Order: sequence, then C-alpha cells, then structure tokens
Amino acid sequence: MKVAIVGASGAVGQEFLRVLDERNFPIDELLLFGSSRSAGRKYTFRGKEIEVKLLQHNDDFKGVDIAFASAGAGTSKEFAGTITKYGAVMIDNSSAFRMEEDIPLVVPEVNAEDALNRPRNIIANPNCTTIQMVVALKAIENLTHIKRVHVSTYQAASGAGAAAMDELYEQYRQVLAGEPVKVEKFAYQLAFNLIPQIDVFTDNGYTKEEMKMYNETRKIMHSDVKVSATCVRVPALRSHSESIWIETERPVSVEEAREAFAHGEGLVLMDNPEKKEYPMPLFLAGKDPVYVGRIRKDLADENGLTFWIVGDQIKKGAALNAVQIAEYLIKVKNIG
Ligand SMILES: NC(=O)c1ccc[n+]([C@@H]2O[C@H](COP(=O)([O-])OP(=O)(O)OC[C@H]3O[C@@H](n4cnc5c(N)ncnc54)[C@H](OP(=O)(O)O)[C@@H]3O)[C@@H](O)[C@H]2O)c1
Repeated sequence: MKVAIVGASGAVGQEFLRVLDERNFPIDELLLFGSSRSAGRKYTFRGKEIEVKLLQHNDDFKGVDIAFASAGAGTSKEFAGTITKYGAVMIDNSSAFRMEEDIPLVVPEVNAEDALNRPRNIIANPNCTTIQMVVALKAIENLTHIKRVHVSTYQAASGAGAAAMDELYEQYRQVLAGEPVKVEKFAYQLAFNLIPQIDVFTDNGYTKEEMKMYNETRKIMHSDVKVSATCVRVPALRSHSESIWIETERPVSVEEAREAFAHGEGLVLMDNPEKKEYPMPLFLAGKDPVYVGRIRKDLADENGLTFWIVGDQIKKGAALNAVQIAEYLIKVKNIG
C-alpha cells in the first residue's frame, strides 16, 4: 500500500503515525503532507525518517492507494480533486463533505458497508463526539429502536487541535504563576473554566458542533432518531466524555443494556458503582474503545435509559476510525 497523510504535523496527523504503526497497517511507502509551516520537517515512522512535503496541486498522489486527510475543511475542499485524481481513496477527517449525499459517512462498527459506495472516492470520518456516541447507541439500537437522544458533551482541549492543547497547559501555568492569561484558540480562558460553545452558533441557537451530532447520527445510523445536544469545552487535555439520555421504542432494563454494552463492538463496559468504577478521560487517553458506565433507568421517562461514555477523540474520534475504515476496505478486497 502507498499511503499518504495530509496534515501530518497536527494532533490527528501525529495520531495517524502512531495508529498505523500500532496496528501493523500494510504500508510499502508513506507520504506526509503539510502546509509551508511544516514542509521539510521530518517524522520517524517504523525507524525511517520521512520528510513532510508541501501540499500542492500536482501529481504527488499518483499511485497513492489511501490518503488520510486531517488538515481542516478548507484544505480538504481545495485539494480533494488533486488527492483523488489518480484513484486514491481519500478518508477525510474534516467536516467538508460529511453531509453530502454522494459521500459515505462511516463508523465501521455501525455502517462499514456504506464505505463501498463512494462515487467521488471520498469517505468522510464523522465528527469525533458523534463517532463515540454512535458506537454506544448501536448496541442499544440492536435491541430496540432509539427514538430520541439528549446528550451533553464534555470535550477536551485537544479536540481543537495540537495548539489548543498547548494553550491549556500554558494557561494553567500562567494562572499558577500569577501572569496574565493568553487566550487565542478558545473564546475564553479554558483553564479552571467550562465553555458552553464549540464551533459557531447557527440560526436555531444550537452550535454547529451540536447540529453535527443531530445530522451525522441520523446519516450514519440510517435512522430518524432526534438528537438534542449541548456541547461544552472542558479543561481536560484528551478524551471526550458524554452524558447521554435515550428514549427507546420499548423499555430497556439496566441489565439488558449492560449485556448489550458488554458485547457491543468497540465498547468496554466500565460500570461498577460500588467500587467507584466508571470511565474518566484522564485515565482513558490513548485507548481504542469507547467506555460506558453509570448506566441507569431514566427517572423521568419509563422508556428512557441514561449512561456516560468516554472515548479518546483523537484516536477513535479521528485517526483510529479512519484507519479502521481502510482496514475494512482491505478486508473485503475493495482496495489495494
Ligand atoms: N483534534 C481532534 O480531536 C479532531 C477529531 C476529529 C476530527 N478532527 C479534524 O481533523 C482535522 C485536523 O485537526 P487537528 O486537531 O489535527 O488540527 P491541528 O493540530 O491544528 O493540525 C492541522 C494540520 O493541518 C495542516 N494544514 C493546515 N492547513 C494546511 C494546508 N493549506 N495544506 C496542508 N496542510 C495544512 C497543518 O499542517 P502545518 O502544520 O504544516 O500547517 C496541520 O498538520 C480538522 O479538520 C479537525 O476538525 C480533529
């Protein structure tokens, strides 16, 4: 396989290097791309130094089988033609194409086969909060249809990129040193704070991030489910957490839900209140699965169930999900 990573220097790009290595992804040649900021920089992959090339409109993608793109929506839109011109499958982490009809939006545990129908040779990786939520929802949807979802998210700083993670570290240092706090990546100081806004506001008062959870969940699950989300940035470094309430067509008992989560693909049940065992972002960064805990009947709705999930949004929410899509294509001999 000839593989390319577009946006190699970023938080997701760096995770691609780790995940591809960790999973022994079959690679004969790896190409790295970036803007003029990182072009020329070298990264080591499987003991070999690879120099970042400047992403340009040229023939650099000739012979590439899979291109993992994580360089923002603007770059993906501008370069999709160049990347896919010679037949490379572009698996895109940005929001550029997710809701376009002729672009599949894929979470392998839920709708892997959708990746096989890609008229433009582009497959979109969903929004990170949506990915980890649908992995959990799928386990319950297998039992009975989920009609409604209410969700509050607790999203780590790194969801806004590598520089945002650095800014949070720096803000804590500045606060503790009594220095003025520098705010660049977020709307407000995040250290010692919560910010109930991720992405820009839309006309209905929800943010774009919240509307992504509504629209993308329906597309991935091929479902009429309604999702009402409140997305909050929290001063955790890595791994997003979500508090989820679902309403199902028939009531689901806690025991049944535990069983479903325990056997659900991509899930780990971590729910032992007596031992204070529940998922927490600090301890689950860098892990592959989505962890589920705090499973309870919803006291306000007899067809309701509530639970708490944590997943590493740079890993399962981005790089790992994209690599799993590629692995699926290889497995069904659809590529390579
Ligand atoms: N962070 C997450 O948790 C997460 C999760 C899911 C999806 N995503 C999505 O993944 C994408 C990247 O996110 P990130 O967090 O990795 O951001 P990041 O840390 O800020 O990295 C951005 C990357 O894009 C590259 N880039 C920017 N403009 C470019 C251009 N014109 N040409 C080539 N490369 C360019 C940068 O390269 P230079 O350094 O050379 O400029 C850098 O490698 C975004 O679309 C984001 O929404 C992120």
